[in-house]
Amino acid sequence: MPGLFDTINIKGLALKNRIVMPPMATGMATEDGEITDRHTKHYVTRAEGGVGLIILEHSYVLKDGKLRRAQTGLYSDKLIPGLKRLVEAIHSKGAKVIIQLNHSGAKAPRSLTGKQPSGPWNIALPNASEVPRPLTISELQTIVAGFGDAAYRAAEAGFDSVEIHGAHGFLLCQFLSPYTNCRDDEYGGSLLNRLRFPVQVIKEVKTRIGENMPLFYRFGADDMIEGGLSGDEAKLAAKHLEQAGVDVIDVSGGIGGDGQKITGQGYFVPLAKGIKEVVKVPVIGVGNITEPEYADTIIREGKVDLVAIGRTLLSNPDFPKQAAQKLGIKL
Ligand SMILES: Cc1cc2nc3c(=O)[nH]c(=O)nc-3n(C[C@H](O)[C@H](O)[C@H](O)COP(=O)(O)O)c2cc1C
Repeated sequence: MPGLFDTINIKGLALKNRIVMPPMATGMATEDGEITDRHTKHYVTRAEGGVGLIILEHSYVLKDGKLRRAQTGLYSDKLIPGLKRLVEAIHSKGAKVIIQLNHSGAKAPRSLTGKQPSGPWNIALPNASEVPRPLTISELQTIVAGFGDAAYRAAEAGFDSVEIHGAHGFLLCQFLSPYTNCRDDEYGGSLLNRLRFPVQVIKEVKTRIGENMPLFYRFGADDMIEGGLSGDEAKLAAKHLEQAGVDVIDVSGGIGGDGQKITGQGYFVPLAKGIKEVVKVPVIGVGNITEPEYADTIIREGKVDLVAIGRTLLSNPDFPKQAAQKLGIKL
């Protein structure tokens, strides 16, 4: 079985190792969502540290889907030149880079959008400041197109591909979760109905990036809330995501977005292993991974295919180089 420093080729995306920097919001963009020099330096430093793949932080595909001030944007063509410079800088250091596409839905605050938040249904998420209103079908189609346009911009900027954000209680997760989706039309109710909107987004994004780019999906495989998505239903959902065209499943969880409060080495790895057992596409495992030996072992044991190292890379950009040394690998 391969290990942490073995290469992997995913539909033509050749990674020099299996260390992934997962998407982590930096708050370093301008108020309009444009890339800044500080931003570029942040990612280039991690690329220099030897990470194989960077998944750039969640970026809002439409203005109505913005979560925070200084969040990275993908909602307009005017953002492409800044993103292009960032991508070139990361590529020049030997890492590959994709970008996470997001719409916050019911989590998008009125203070930023000037509107009542909207989602599948008028059910507030834990800690929400306002009850959302249900999106109309025509609004859903606008959002599907928004994801497609954003994906096209990412490809124009030179990204190696994109990741759709379907976890942490954001819009796609809101649709898939029985906790937040109580619609009585074709977008709610059964698992297949709750999957309808995420699958439409997947198909649109695939059409816009083309067949040659592997599509990543951050999948909230356990909402960690009573009445939410979990267990066998989540496994079945993963199979449907794969069937819809997802090429890599990046497993996370927690509809409240507070998964990272859990402690313990590899806390979402058992969840990722459960998903890997039912799909054929590569799976990414995450959760407080700090030890190179542990990261290497979970790949060698076939639990996951790639390992995401988040906060450890924030505090130590050279983690990959040091991990290679510790494992006796010559880079
Ligand atoms: C500061 C910060 C920002 C984050 N932003 C995102 C994000 O934009 N998209 C996402 O899917 N996850 C986000 N996450 C979650 C991480 O991708 C990762 O799953 C989590 O931190 C657990 O990995 P770790 O224990 O190695 O840090 C964020 C986490 C942190 C700490």
